[in-house]
Order: sequence, then C-alpha cells, then structure tokens
Amino acid sequence: MEMINVENISFSFEDGITRIMDGISFNVEEDEFVSIIGPSGCGKSTMLRIIAGLIKPDGGKVFYMGREVSGPVRGISFVFQDFALLPWLTIIENVKLGFSLINITEEEKNRRSTLLLDSFGLSGFENSYPNALSGGMKQRVGIARALASDPNVLLMDEPFSALDQLTADTLRSDIIYQLKNKDLPVKSVIMVTHNVEEAIELSDKMVILSAKPSHVKEVINVNMPRPRSKRSRKVAALMDHIYAELAKD
Ligand SMILES: Nc1ncnc2c1ncn2[C@@H]1O[C@H](COP(=O)(O)OP(=O)(O)O)[C@@H](O)[C@H]1O
Ligand SMILES: [Mg+2]
Repeated sequence: MEMINVENISFSFEDGITRIMDGISFNVEEDEFVSIIGPSGCGKSTMLRIIAGLIKPDGGKVFYMGREVSGPVRGISFVFQDFALLPWLTIIENVKLGFSLINITEEEKNRRSTLLLDSFGLSGFENSYPNALSGGMKQRVGIARALASDPNVLLMDEPFSALDQLTADTLRSDIIYQLKNKDLPVKSVIMVTHNVEEAIELSDKMVILSAKPSHVKEVINVNMPRPRSKRSRKVAALMDHIYAELAKD
C-alpha cells in the first residue's frame, strides 16, 4: 500500500518570485524507509512541512493513505534537526506534547510517556529540564515525543546532523532498532539528510533532488542486504554515483 503520494508539488515563498520547488513527485510505500537528499537550500525541510500539512503548496497535492493532506494529520509525526524541545517544560512534559491531538487521560499520557522515555534510555530524567541533557539525549526526547501519537509515518529532518559523529552513530542504530519494534505502528519513514553514507545505510529508496527550483533528479531503489558496510564495493559504487549526480547541474 502507498502511505504517502507526493504529486507534482510546486512551491514559492510569499514573494512568489523565488521558486523553491518545481513539480516534485514521489511515493512512499508501507514499510519503506525513504531518504531525501539534495543541496542545501533546495527545499527539503519545506517539503517535509508540506507533507505534514504544515504548509500549503502552490501547486500539486500530497496524499496520506489515499486522502489529500490539507492540514496537520494525526498519523504523521515530525522529528526536528534542532530537537525543538521547550526549555521551560520538563522532559516528560515535552514528550506529552506529542499527545496533543489525542484524547486520552492524563494518567495514560504519563504512563505512555514514561514507557517511551524508558525505551530510549531516559529513565530517571522525566523531571529534568532539556538544558540538563546532552544533544543525543535531547534528540531521544524529540523522537519519543514524535512517537507518542503512534504515527504511521515518521518525518525526520536531518535528525542526526546536530550531533557529533559517535553520538549520531549510536542514536542512528538505536532508532533503527526501535523502529523495528512491533509495538510501534510506524510503517514508513521519510528522512531528509545530506549524509549520503547515512542515507545508503538506512534507505529502501532515495530521492535525489536538484538545486532550487528543485525537481527529482533520480529515485534509487537500494536493493542491498543489511547491514551495508561502506567498504563493500556495491555501497562504494552507489556513493560515487550519488555524489556525481549531486555535482551535476
Ligand atoms: N520563510 C521563508 N521565506 C523566504 N524564503 C525562505 C523561507 N524559509 C526558507 N526559505 C528559502 O527557501 C529555500 C528552501 O529552504 P529549506 O526548505 O529550508 O531548504 P533545505 O532544507 O533543503 O536546506 C532556501 O533557499 C531558503 O533560503
Ligand atoms: Mg533543511
């Protein structure tokens, strides 16, 4: 089944002059991990906001499970590059923001948030404030908050790029492990990244965008067994191909 269809999306900011996207289309199937790669400023973050129903495109449509997206959708959650935690709320209060569109009791919110924090190794930090946490821990909170609403589709905007490499590596494998957890309803992930190696490691499909006004240069189905070592010849060849594609104009 197709979870997300992006159909011919065009977008300019309000001045109407700077065209950011020009007819972008791609699909995301159930159980698919899709990466979006493209040069800085080509509209990747804007694309995710359009998919989440936070911004309206000038042209084209987005469908979530066959229904047109016209505003925030309950089944779609967002993980931000800069974590986007509210500094005046405790960790558990930040996670509970993820339940805002859901009608459950306060006790149930507390119970579920505690479980989520526990599964991300943050037991004991429920009543701390974000500034007491390292970057990696903050992003775990950001992800726990995104998962609170039991989303079918998870949108991640460069989720590891604000972290040092070791922290990013650990968190990346933790996340992948968590997403395979059968208790989570996450079916599909769309991740924006500028890290080609990361994209190859994680993705079933990669959408390569051009510079703005951006269009889809290539959609690559990554049919390789996991784990994918960058030392393998196939991975190295694919990396070379993508770098060459990104360099072309
Ligand atoms: N609020 C805004 N008003 C006008 N231009 C914007 C605004 N936000 C972003 N832009 C421009 O739109 C382009 C796409 O931004 P963005 O989606 O953040 O790109 P990316 O995530 O690919 O780096 C950039 O060139 C940026 O300068
Ligand atoms: Mg961005």
